[in-house]
Formats: sequence, structure tokens, C-alpha cells
Amino acid sequence: MTIRMTRRKFAALAGVALLVPPVHAQTDAPLITRVIPSSGERLPAVGLGTAHVFDRADDTTRHKAAAVLQALIAKGARLIDTASSYGDAESVLGDVIAPAGLRDKFFIATKLEQPDAAELKRSLARLKTPKVDLLQLHNVRNPRQSLAQFKDWKAQGMCRYIGITSTFHGDFAAIESVLGREKPDFVQIDYSLDERTVEKRILPLASEVKAGVLTALPFGRGRLFRAVRGKEIPDWGRVFADSWARFFLKYLLSDPRITAVIPGTSDPAHMTDNLGAMRGPLPDADQRLRMVAFIETL
Ligand SMILES: NC(=O)c1ccc[n+]([C@@H]2O[C@H](COP(=O)([O-])OP(=O)(O)OC[C@H]3O[C@@H](n4cnc5c(N)ncnc54)[C@H](OP(=O)(O)O)[C@@H]3O)[C@@H](O)[C@H]2O)c1
Repeated sequence: MTIRMTRRKFAALAGVALLVPPVHAQTDAPLITRVIPSSGERLPAVGLGTAHVFDRADDTTRHKAAAVLQALIAKGARLIDTASSYGDAESVLGDVIAPAGLRDKFFIATKLEQPDAAELKRSLARLKTPKVDLLQLHNVRNPRQSLAQFKDWKAQGMCRYIGITSTFHGDFAAIESVLGREKPDFVQIDYSLDERTVEKRILPLASEVKAGVLTALPFGRGRLFRAVRGKEIPDWGRVFADSWARFFLKYLLSDPRITAVIPGTSDPAHMTDNLGAMRGPLPDADQRLRMVAFIETL
């Protein structure tokens, strides 16, 4: 049986999401937002990644997605990152968001494998939207890759921003070539407290060409949680983070070149935990060094 996600059903699932006790108390501090360099538009700095979590278009997945998305908008966030290649994730998002009339609440970023009109048409149909906010070319590996077709689509109003992505470090030279030449609005790369390659080679260029930065794999696919299992957050870390998720995400957000982090989860309590990184103090330069030293001793 397929559920139709009306606004009422979405709200009912919101109740489910809100019944999950917050892992940590939220503060009343203002929301951390970041400016998208090419437009000046502000984006809340924590979003949601959807690789692996919403792969199957069934009712169980749609219920989970509705609860996670409700948690996201309840805390003032907007950004969802998905891809044409993430199983049924685009369809699940479309099934949950469109019938509930909530499209305008979200900043939807998706990815295509190729600048292919049929693939874009399929993504828009699955997401049930006439346009996405950000259209990214997934896993760029050719330094001569043109973004002309993406720029045309942006001019035609099929997307508001364009971007490129890669988490394959062997392809970072290609990312740098395309980023420097084509100057997309966004670049998405992997960045986490224990994987900081991009601090030296992609983030400086992104800053120079005024590209927004989305950080994939902010927990290293959960590797960081496994590294601190059974450990307490040190007292100096508690000054700015009351959970490990917030500790890890705030390291990334304390770099002003980062526009938003996109941790993946299908758990509304984890979503709420992650969104807490959008409030309160961020670590300063000395605290960042201490965080790196701490993670390197584990
Ligand atoms: N080339 C590319 O463009 C590219 C490549 C890879 C990824 N990405 C994007 O980056 C996103 C993030 O990557 P990812 O999802 O693979 O890895 P990730 O965000 O680094 O880690 C996800 C893992 O962390 C767990 N988690 C999330 N929040 C938690 C919390 N508060 N407490 C404890 N555990 C928590 C999740 O489990 P639960 O589900 O149990 O919460 C999951 O096991 C992807 O979803 C995708 O959108 C892009």
C-alpha cells in the first residue's frame, strides 16, 4: 500500500519526530546561516545528506523521511542533498514533500552523473518539482569537463545554482581545474575532523572563485563516532558542543569557507542532534587545533 503524504499526515509524523526526546538541550542562540557567495542568499548551515538512507521507495522509508524532514524544518533548516544515483531517494523525497505542499520549505540539491537532459527530466519528475535549487555534476573526473549545459539549464530556470562534486581524492586535480575555469556556484567535497585534505587544496580555490562549499561525509560515514565510542567530550570541548555530533560538525562550521554541512541520517533524533550544531559558539582557532590534536591521539 502506498501512503499519500498529505500535509496532515506529514504533521502527524512530525508529532512522532517531536516525541523523540532531544538528545541534548537546544539553546536560544541565533541560527548559524551562511551566505551563498554568488547570490548573497543565506542558507542555514546544517542540512541533510540522503545517500543510502532513503534508497527504497516503500512506506517505511517514506515515514522515516517524513519524520527526518519535519525535524529539519522544525529547527529552521532547509538544505537536502540527494542524487539521481541514490537509489529511490529522489522519489521518496518527492513523495513526502510535494503532496504535503512543502516544496518551498526546502533547498533541494541533487546531482546528475552526466549533463544529460533525460537524466535531469527524470530527477525533476521523481522529486515532483519543476526546478531544483542546486544542480550538481556528480563525481567530476575530467579536468576538461564543461558546465555549459548546466549553465544553460540555470539560464532556463531549471535550477537556481550549479555545482560540482567529488569525494575521490585522485580526482581533486580535475575538481580544481573545473572549479577554477567554470566557476560554479558550489563545490561539494568530503571534509571531516579526521580527513582535512581539502583545507589545503580545494577550500582556498573555492574561496578565490567565490564558490559555496558543501561538505559531504562530515562524520566520515560514521567513522568519527566509532573513534570516540565510550569516550566523554573533553571539558574544553563542552564549551561549544554538548554532543559528539555537534563537536564534529562545529569543527567544519568554524571554517568560514564552509557554507553548509550535510550529515546523512534516517533517524529524526540524530537529525535534531545534528541541527543543534547550528546554534551557540563555534570553536576558535586555538580550539580547532586542540580538536585536531585530540582526534589524532585516538
Ligand atoms: N561525491 C559526492 O558528491 C558525495 C559522496 C558521498 C556523500 N555525499 C553526500 O554527503 C552526505 C553525507 O555522507 P554520508 O551520509 O555517507 O556519511 P556521514 O554523514 O559522514 O555519516 C553518516 C553516518 O553517521 C550516522 N549519524 C548521523 N548523525 C548522527 C548522530 N547525530 N549521532 C550518531 N550517528 C549519526 C548515520 O547513522 P544514522 O542513519 O543511524 O543516523 C550514518 O551512519 C551523503 O548523504 C550525501 O548526500 C556526496
